[in-house]
Amino acid sequence: MTTDATSTSSGLGSIDRGAGRVHVDDKAMINARADVNQLLPLKYHWAWEKYLAGCANHWMPTEVSMQADIALWRTPTGLTDDERHTIKRNLGFFAASESLVANNVVLAVYRHLTNPECRQYLLRQAFEEAVHTHTFQYVCESLGLDGGELFNMYREVPSITDKAAWALDHTQNLEDPGFRTGTPETDRAFLRDLVAFYVVFEGMWFYTGFAQILSFGRRNKMVGVAEQYQYILRDESIHLNFGVDVINQIKAENPHLWTDAFQAEVRTMLGEACELEVAYGRDTMPNGLLGLNAGQCERYMRFITNRRCAQLGLAPVFGAVDNPFPWMSEAIDLKKEKNFFETRVTEYASGSSLDWD
Ligand SMILES: [Fe+2]
Ligand SMILES: [Fe+2]
Repeated sequence: MTTDATSTSSGLGSIDRGAGRVHVDDKAMINARADVNQLLPLKYHWAWEKYLAGCANHWMPTEVSMQADIALWRTPTGLTDDERHTIKRNLGFFAASESLVANNVVLAVYRHLTNPECRQYLLRQAFEEAVHTHTFQYVCESLGLDGGELFNMYREVPSITDKAAWALDHTQNLEDPGFRTGTPETDRAFLRDLVAFYVVFEGMWFYTGFAQILSFGRRNKMVGVAEQYQYILRDESIHLNFGVDVINQIKAENPHLWTDAFQAEVRTMLGEACELEVAYGRDTMPNGLLGLNAGQCERYMRFITNRRCAQLGLAPVFGAVDNPFPWMSEAIDLKKEKNFFETRVTEYASGSSLDWD
């Protein structure tokens, strides 16, 4: 048997000729001994089901017509200055964030998650993040926006920089090429990365942006971008739920990692992430618009934060908060909401029965 931990987890070490077949009980989320090159026998059916759901949701941004958006964007009186400000900051946040998430999936999560069915989902997710980045390239080109301004916004606009910097702080350890899981300290460092990217980035910070653009769509403005965001939201809801399942499975297999102190630390992380998002909401909507304002976004983010705590089995960070945007819950169901934006929606097979919000 190969004993080198690196080659074992990469799947690229020398072949152990004559080694026995994989036993399902040898498979594990992290620090597994079982060969990572063998998908079967499946252990984590939830991971395989998410891979299938992702494939069933396939879409491309170029299938969505941008004609109405282009006409509206080019009409000087088509949108207010506030609306243009919100749209550009929103696109600017997502444009680089999709790449940050993709790079973390490929360069950090994939290395340390030692399970083939989870890796199968990660390969699908990585492609979906590429599709999302493509979406921002397509929107940028369609509307004639300055690509440099949009994609560099995460280094130029403090409320966006603060979020990206916070997430990257929680993944710095994994940047070290010598980083390995296998001790409580390094296993917790990996969990921090998963929380920062899956729960916070994809599960909290994308949601103000979704609510903003879907609000435009509900008012028949920027309907092409809104339709694309609806598809991205559907993908991201699976990414989030995959991340939550991964974290909870690692907890179940390694209960010694989930100490009271570490739980308190994760709750602090979610509270900080909420604050950063509230600041971003104020920055992108200083005067409110389309029936949205920064105060509602703050309530919405507190609602989302508590929901994420519950999904991780943690006590809520905030007191009871109602969802100020109940319509967001409907936006995900494309079959039901086919005419949500009164625009052409290709009917893709739905991932269905997703626990999202
Ligand atoms: Fe994405
Ligand atoms: Fe994602």
